[in-house]
Amino acid sequence: MAIKFSKTFLLRKLHQLTGIVPLGLFYFVHLYTNSAALNGPKVFNDHVQDIHNMAYLLFIEIFGIFIPLLFHSVYGILISAEAKPNVLGYGYARNWFYVFQRATGIFLFVFLLFHILNFRFGLIPGLNMTPVAGNADQAYAIVSREFQIVWVLIFYFLGVIATAWHLAYGFFLFAVDWGIVIGEKAQSILLKASLGLAVFLSLIGINAAIAFVRPCGLLPKALCEEPRLTTPTPPKKV
Ligand code: HEM
Repeated sequence: MAIKFSKTFLLRKLHQLTGIVPLGLFYFVHLYTNSAALNGPKVFNDHVQDIHNMAYLLFIEIFGIFIPLLFHSVYGILISAEAKPNVLGYGYARNWFYVFQRATGIFLFVFLLFHILNFRFGLIPGLNMTPVAGNADQAYAIVSREFQIVWVLIFYFLGVIATAWHLAYGFFLFAVDWGIVIGEKAQSILLKASLGLAVFLSLIGINAAIAFVRPCGLLPKALCEEPRLTTPTPPKKV
């Protein structure tokens, strides 16, 4: 009998768990770092440098990001291949959400492959060949140069929106499937909160992307502060 990946209990639970920790957690940190671009190149580059100053960074990347991401993506694609969408028969919101969750997952596989090769490794000929890793002082310039290209910027808007949906609805599915939120009313409130979170994360992500082509993103410039270059005052003689 052929294995049904969508019905394999332990792997399915591991798939859900890797989506929340570490990947979901990573994405919140990543949005925070990207949003530093609102305050200009120096602030963003310093945030990137801080990450690269972390001890054990390579191990954190391999075991905390790349391996969970690879497992989550490949297993997610296997589950999606077994999907039986029924939106044509029953056009309820939850049927559509089922389709969106799978569609965003497949899109994110392509987007993230491009994104990681482009920025982390600088391996997209014709686009960027300077990795951000090891060149934190050029991080803002590298991203900003890419985002001047209209299709790249649009691709990122789509990537950010797809991530926001996939993660926020993923929280809902996780809470329901792990028996954390059980009652019908509680699930309905959680679903609305998840959709709100998807909108919120999309707006923050889009604004962070725009901050690489326009200072302070979509916000009025007065709300963002570039660091002032002050010379340290010498200690007073007593
Ligand atoms: C505004 C949009 C985004 C910008 C400006 C951005 C920027 C960057 C940069 C500069 C890096 C290289 C970091 C380094 O080498 O230190 C990176 C890596 C990465 N990004 Fe993004 N990113 C964006 C959206 C996303 C989205 C939507 C995801 C989806 C989850 C994502 C996931 C990742 C991952 C998994 C890595 C590799 C992490 C690592 O190697 O440490 N990014 N991003």
